[in-house]
Amino acid sequence: MRVVSGIQPTGSLHLGNYLGAIRNWVRMQDSLEEGSQCLFFLADLHAISMPHVPAELRAGTLEMTAALVACGIDPDRSILFNQAQVPAHAELQWLLNGTARMGWLNRMTQFKDKSGKNREGASVALFTYPVLQAADVLLYQASHVPVGEDQKQHLELARDVAQKFNNDFCTEDAPVFTLPDPIIPPEAARIMSLRDGSSKMSKSDPSDMARINLADDADLVAKKVKKAKTDPEPLPSEAKGLEGRPEALNLVSIYAALSDCSVESVLAQYGGQGFGAFKPALAELMVESLRPVTTRFNELMEDREALDAILARGAAHAREIARPTLNAAYEALGLVRG
Ligand code: TYM
Repeated sequence: MRVVSGIQPTGSLHLGNYLGAIRNWVRMQDSLEEGSQCLFFLADLHAISMPHVPAELRAGTLEMTAALVACGIDPDRSILFNQAQVPAHAELQWLLNGTARMGWLNRMTQFKDKSGKNREGASVALFTYPVLQAADVLLYQASHVPVGEDQKQHLELARDVAQKFNNDFCTEDAPVFTLPDPIIPPEAARIMSLRDGSSKMSKSDPSDMARINLADDADLVAKKVKKAKTDPEPLPSEAKGLEGRPEALNLVSIYAALSDCSVESVLAQYGGQGFGAFKPALAELMVESLRPVTTRFNELMEDREALDAILARGAAHAREIARPTLNAAYEALGLVRG
């Protein structure tokens, strides 16, 4: 089993990232069997697909490294690195550009969402973004990719690219790529914005009130939860009573995910009560759950050299693992390299 996943080092780590992906990374790392491996990386090459400030990307890369370690990613057990230190990601992307089809990329919802009305002005990198993401996982023969629901389409594309490449350029008994399986947590697949239950919690939301950042202090968390959008009805006592109430569903789902129980059991406890009672309980649960992470994050940020060293060591290891697959891809395509 090889587990591979990534996160963009832009903006701060928020509750959606944590519950949708990072908590699963840590669980998979902690339950790994002998001979299996986890690779987690900062998708800094993906981050340049949108307008960005170089100094912020540089600072954000170290900050996200600290955040991941604070959440429980152990650089002695998992390979933690940033794409920019492993050129094989960009190389394999180019090789896969020959296999990925324009029609496949045209169907990607992320490109439509992020380019908005200004499609002509979007970067080429934003369009080919999913091919780099395919390279990220195929390079390491990933079998499992823990992600939130929003990355499912990209993972399907990675499987299509792998399958077509294997069909077009390999014999049946010697495929170059493994088809990766996405691992999506059922209870926290899609954490929504606190201001709008129909859009996902996101680093790029202009309103900081829409998300809980892992670095927010207790007062700010309480304020954000208090101001979170809701409806005037009390909580129902069964899950089907949350239909058509996206904000209420989101808050109950967050509570369920943080306390590791089902939506039903949260409703068994809070059904019939109004948000005036539920919100303070939710805020307290968030603060208690995030406190150890925030404390550790602040400690780690004191020693930037140690964070650099973690990435350099992880990248050296990743380069080694990547080499045979990259060589096999060049070879399969008939590219002469001396
Ligand atoms: P990114 O940086 O947007 O998010 C990192 C991870 O957090 C999950 N996530 C969420 N889960 C639930 N609810 C939310 N509101 C929420 N917001 C974010 C994402 O699904 C993701 O798992 N393209 C990727 C990074 C990437 C990658 C990869 C991931 C690059 N290469 C290869 C997996 C494999 C991204 O931008 O994630």
